[in-house]
Amino acid sequence: MQKGLFITFEGSDGCGKTTQINLLNEYLRAKCRPTLLTREPGSGGLGIKIREILLNFEGEIAPNCESFLFLADRAQHVEYTIKPALKEGKIVLCDRHTDSTLAYQGYGREGDIERIKLLNEIAVNGLKPDLTLVFDIPAETSLKRVGHDKDRMEASGLEFFDRVRNGYLEIAKLEPERVRVIDASDSIENIHKKVVEIVESL
Ligand code: TYD
Repeated sequence: MQKGLFITFEGSDGCGKTTQINLLNEYLRAKCRPTLLTREPGSGGLGIKIREILLNFEGEIAPNCESFLFLADRAQHVEYTIKPALKEGKIVLCDRHTDSTLAYQGYGREGDIERIKLLNEIAVNGLKPDLTLVFDIPAETSLKRVGHDKDRMEASGLEFFDRVRNGYLEIAKLEPERVRVIDASDSIENIHKKVVEIVESL
C-alpha cells in the first residue's frame, strides 16, 4: 500500500504556524506533490460543531470534558480525513494534532499526561505523525499576538501559556527524532526556509 506523509504543525496560539503551513502547502503544490491541508479541531461537519463548543461555549467545561471533546474531534478527523488521504499517498499537513492535547490539556491545564496519552491512543487508532514542527515563542509574545479578542482557550492566561510552551519543549526533548523545534520569532521567510529544509530532508 502506498503511504503518504503525515506532518503536524504545533505551537502556542499566535506562533505563526498557520502562515507557515500555508506557505509549505503552496511550496509542495508548486512541485506537484499531492497535499491535504487540514486542522484540529474542526475539520468536516461534525468537527466544526465540536470546535464551536470548544472555543465559544460560555459556561464551565470540566477539564476531562475538554480533553474528550478534542479527542472526539481527532477520532473523527483521523478516520474520515487523515487516514484516507495518507492511503492515497498524499502529504497531509495538519494544523495541530496529538501534541496540542498533551501541551494544552496535559501541561497547560496540569492534567494527567499519561492518562491523556492513553486516551489519545484510542483516538488516533495507530496513527502517528512522521514529522512534527513546533513553532516556539515566549508566552508573552503568544498573548500579545492573540490580542484582545480572545476565544475560550486563548483566555487562559500567561502562566497557562508558559506551561504550554514548556510542555512542547518537553515533548520535543522526549522525541527528538519526530519533533523539531523552530524559533518562531525569526522572519516569516527565514522560518519558511527552515521548514522546507526539514521537510525536504524527509
Ligand atoms: P485555533 O483558532 O485553531 O488556534 P490556532 O490558530 O492557534 O491553532 O484554536 C484552537 C485552540 O484549541 C488553540 O487554543 C489550541 C487549542 N487546542 C487544545 O487545547 N487541545 C487540542 O488538542 C487542540 C487540537 C487544540
